[in-house]
Amino acid sequence: MTNPEIIELLQQDIRGEHQAIVMYLMHAYEVGESGLAAEIEAIAREEMRHLDWLADIITGLGGEPNMEPVPPDFTAAPLNEQMLKDVALEEGAAAQYREHIEAIDVPDIRLLLSRILHDELAHHGMFVKFVDEVSEMTSVIEKANAEGATLEPRTADILKQGVRHEYTVTLQYLFHGFMTKDKDLAEDWQNIAINEMQHMGWLSEALTARGGRPDFTHTPLVLTPDAETNLKADIAVERDVTKTYSRHIPEVEDPGLAELLERIRDHEIYHDNQFSGLLDQVEDEEHTAGCQPDTAAPSTTKKIPTVGSLK
Ligand SMILES: [Fe+2]
Ligand SMILES: [Fe+2]
Ligand SMILES: [Fe+2]
Repeated sequence: MTNPEIIELLQQDIRGEHQAIVMYLMHAYEVGESGLAAEIEAIAREEMRHLDWLADIITGLGGEPNMEPVPPDFTAAPLNEQMLKDVALEEGAAAQYREHIEAIDVPDIRLLLSRILHDELAHHGMFVKFVDEVSEMTSVIEKANAEGATLEPRTADILKQGVRHEYTVTLQYLFHGFMTKDKDLAEDWQNIAINEMQHMGWLSEALTARGGRPDFTHTPLVLTPDAETNLKADIAVERDVTKTYSRHIPEVEDPGLAELLERIRDHEIYHDNQFSGLLDQVEDEEHTAGCQPDTAAPSTTKKIPTVGSLK
């Protein structure tokens, strides 16, 4: 099997992980604050780890990770039906990993996929159990609506727009982290992406608690292999969203919500500073390197993770 053929299979896997992450997050928000929601979110976090490992292998083989999910099913349904969707997703994932383990003849990659398969089988068992656990529960959205929650259309718009932005930058920053060969820079990008994911969660929870449904779609992504270009795009998006949040804060009547938006907005200002500092570093390094463009040599700092390194 050639590298492009292996990459092709791993892209299917990474897109499946992405689909699972957003569907599980949606379902966790629908379940609402409870131990069960935390368990579903913990599964979504394991899928994020899978996505990260797969991205490392793809870039190690010379590819660019695909950031589009297999189209997720976001339709509203009773909670037990949502859990059944997740059971089916895990069954499909396990079947696909088994096929790919069979097809890919590189021991390190097979080992990693086997480790992921093991997790998917555990998740499958958990979701089967959750189907029963949610049978007596109603979703937070239904509950809020039954209690007569009145979500102002403008507030709903502001929150939905926020979720879309946070989802977009999460994907963009993850990709930027995947594409750089500089380990420290990759870690900084990943940490900011995790912070954006938190924002997405806070806004989604604020929305569902008021009877609304978040919309996990993203706006166009800037996905280049060049760190400098990427940092410039990220600074621009942070400055832009800081202005947007600042405009939205006085429009929101609920003081708790205004406070939440302010807190997020302040994080965005901090991200702008972080990215600006990183851009200075990258530009300095290039200058000392005699302005030599970074020709794509195979990565030496980021290797295919071994099973031992995954723990
Ligand atoms: Fe997974
Ligand atoms: Fe954010
Ligand atoms: Fe940000």
